[in-house]
Amino acid sequence: MTLPAVFDTYKESLDATLRSVFTGRELGIYDMQKYHLGWVDAEGRPSNGQGKGLRPMMCLLACQAAGGDWRDALHSAAAMELVHNFSLIHDDIQDGDTQRRHRDTVWHIWGLAQGINAGDSMRGLAALTLVKGVNSASSATQIRLAVEALETASLEMIEGQFLDITYERNMSVTTDQYLEMIGKKTGALFGCSYYLGALAAGCDGDMVESWRQFGLDMGLVFQIRDDVLGVWGNEDRLGKPIASDIRRKKMCLPVVHALQSAVGKDRKTLQRIYDNGEPANEGEVSAVLSVLERTEARNYCQGLAAEHNDSAMRRLGALNLDKEMDAQLRGLATFFLEREH
Ligand code: IPE
Ligand code: IPE
Ligand code: MG
Ligand code: MG
Repeated sequence: MTLPAVFDTYKESLDATLRSVFTGRELGIYDMQKYHLGWVDAEGRPSNGQGKGLRPMMCLLACQAAGGDWRDALHSAAAMELVHNFSLIHDDIQDGDTQRRHRDTVWHIWGLAQGINAGDSMRGLAALTLVKGVNSASSATQIRLAVEALETASLEMIEGQFLDITYERNMSVTTDQYLEMIGKKTGALFGCSYYLGALAAGCDGDMVESWRQFGLDMGLVFQIRDDVLGVWGNEDRLGKPIASDIRRKKMCLPVVHALQSAVGKDRKTLQRIYDNGEPANEGEVSAVLSVLERTEARNYCQGLAAEHNDSAMRRLGALNLDKEMDAQLRGLATFFLEREH
């Protein structure tokens, strides 16, 4: 189970477009961003620590699948990767995480104040990059729709981050509320990636909207699997500590499900542990894991991810794509559903 083969075709041009964003930008604030993007180490020496690049790749794939030339979507794709990485720089501050992608986080190296600056400026670069993609064939409507889509999705992502934090100490959050929150924090940027790709291919109206909805479902599948990996995944593959959400007592779908469905002693155990604001100790972590097992939380989450996958596949079918492109997108959905990292 791997990422779609077509991603290899895009890789070099996408990388070149992203790097070109920093041409002529010498201030140290850009070094923090280049560090976060995995291009250099904390001393500025070349290194390798990039993310998966899913959002920009999905944007380019949508453009090609919708009948366009994927090169026309390169700046939109780069903008999506920058917004995503802005969200991660700030997310690591908000979550107090010191590690991402097997490396120290930006704020952990440069401090909170400069971490905020690194994220904010990356967000600015994202908007400038999107506008740079405007070419002589772009209509005023296309430009407005692209800017509106990126701004709306960024805002929704931040609303999702807000809700995520308000749910941290909330034991009565329902699975519906939780799903709405992850639709915002993760689904919105996924939806926007597909939307911008289809827009660059010349799609409009219902068509771009269908791509956005497809992306939203894909984002839900991705984030639900992320929640599963956050509890039961492999630490070496993920590059971040396992069961960290449980240690920190942060809400995640398996725990939301368990809090809603556990009865008797299990329910009391969860309530006692989550009622106390201190990080969970080893005994508490294993007690929570046992309750998750008894409430079949893992099956529940994977079942829900499969439902959103089915919904995405129905939307995909209605798009009537070329067979090869359709297969690449189906393969990507399977990857999201089953990935280990
Ligand atoms: C991490 O996203 C944040 C979530 C929405 C779960 P990715 O797993 O796409 O991050 P990178 O860019 O590949 O590291
Ligand atoms: C990821 O949040 C979503 C965004 C950054 C918008 P999480 O906090 O759930 O993801 P990780 O585990 O840090 O990647
Ligand atoms: Mg986080
Ligand atoms: Mg977070």
